[in-house]
Amino acid sequence: MSLKSSSHPITLIPGDGIGPEVVAAVQAVLAAAEVGITWEVRHAGARVFKNGVASGVLPDTVESIRRTRCALKGPLETPVGFGEKSANVTLRKFFETYGNIRPVRELPGIRTPYSGRGIDFVVVRENVEDLYAGIEYMQTPGVAQGLKIITRKGSEKICRLAFELARAEHRKKVTCATKANILKFTEGLFKRVFEDVSKDYPEIHAEHQIVDNCAHQLVMRPEQFDVLVMTNMNGDILSDLASALIGGLGFAPSANLGDGASIFEAVHGSAPQIAGKDMANPTAILHSSVLMLRHLGEMKAADTVENALLVTLEEGKVLTADMAGGGKEPSGTKAFTAEVIKNLGSAPKSFPRREYQKIKMPKVTRDAVMVTAKDTRPMGVDIFVATAIDPAVLGPSIEKVLTGLPVRLAQISSRGTKVYPNTHDIESDPVDCARLRFKVSTHGETLDDKDIAELLLRVGSQVLWVHVEKLFKYDDQPGFTKDQGED
Ligand code: NAI
Repeated sequence: MSLKSSSHPITLIPGDGIGPEVVAAVQAVLAAAEVGITWEVRHAGARVFKNGVASGVLPDTVESIRRTRCALKGPLETPVGFGEKSANVTLRKFFETYGNIRPVRELPGIRTPYSGRGIDFVVVRENVEDLYAGIEYMQTPGVAQGLKIITRKGSEKICRLAFELARAEHRKKVTCATKANILKFTEGLFKRVFEDVSKDYPEIHAEHQIVDNCAHQLVMRPEQFDVLVMTNMNGDILSDLASALIGGLGFAPSANLGDGASIFEAVHGSAPQIAGKDMANPTAILHSSVLMLRHLGEMKAADTVENALLVTLEEGKVLTADMAGGGKEPSGTKAFTAEVIKNLGSAPKSFPRREYQKIKMPKVTRDAVMVTAKDTRPMGVDIFVATAIDPAVLGPSIEKVLTGLPVRLAQISSRGTKVYPNTHDIESDPVDCARLRFKVSTHGETLDDKDIAELLLRVGSQVLWVHVEKLFKYDDQPGFTKDQGED
């Protein structure tokens, strides 16, 4: 049986621990299926970190992916004491692989408490923004801050990708799960963009769930989901939860899709305890290679490899140790791989067939297009200060130095709760970082950068300031949230 159409150049990163063993299984199965692939083996991970490359990714690995636009990778370790960022995150960011796709489908032969309920959905997770942009500061040695960055552009790309995936897999519903009820600007923007984008896909039902309810629903009634789309951190947590429904991380494949390049990998890590012992289960990476083949448009080859894998699981004659329960003799990675190869050309009996098309990737503008408001009005400025002074003392001392400036001290807050003035009924527990909110003192007055610079000097004469944020109104809507207790 030959599935050879054209030869696709693919960057292959064996990775660390069990990586080389499971990646070898993919190479063997795809070669036996005669899928036209030319592997370019390149390196990233522990060895690269130890050779002094701080990113953990060699330049010729980056160059190869830039050229092939497609990589299959094993798990990568960040050895303790080397590098500051994970090589996985570096690769995702480097190639702006903004869409993390994690199919969650009940597997034949893999018993779980959910077996027989027909779980079959896909988690689409935004992969580069949100808290995982990793922009963090220590405001004081005792107060840490992380910035949750959500953009209209990033949200639009991922929401469109979720709907395009639904179309390509003939799915009927996309559920957007957010925390927009609390995080009105960040998660709220994601939800609003989802609602806008959904209008372009009238044949697909679009719904929203609060993310904590979604976690509950995933455990109670997971069969209700078809496609789930989420911001980065919510998606990270809930996609791992979802994997547990079908047998655990060892079975979970993933695709990191980008406009330029895409990276396919198993969700599990390098499992150092079993590395080099021919014990690793290659199911997840084999399934990831199926996602890769569909991304390349090799639909027939993808079905053939997927079916052979499913038949092997369904028959359960040759299983690795993590799968072989109930007194069954476990087999090794190589024997399992040989069984998959033997099953090429067979189809599973119990697995419902799904028709796949290649996902139409959303069009991406590479320019940073300004999203503008008709009217942008400066409203004031927030200045964060490192201090443990009682707000009832700090407030008047700051008010004293404002003479001649077009601002007034509207309030002081601590961790989002107003603590000055007029807060007798609030039981607060202030920390050593406070936010001074200054607003323009009279209606219609403006606040320019010279005023802010002067304000910083004057505040700085009283207390150490650590962070500044301008306050704007966009088309009459405040571009900043109110504190608890703020009028
Ligand atoms: P892990 O996924 O490597 O291991 C967790 C447990 O699952 C272990 O008991 C392991 O033996 C088992 N396991 C995982 N994959 C398996 C497979 N294919 N077959 C049989 N058993 C399997 O997670 P852990 O221990 O937290 O991480 C180990 C290393 O991997 C760390 O350095 C971590 O940073 C890295 N890692 C890399 C990832 C990536 O490159 N995408 C993802 C997760 C972890």
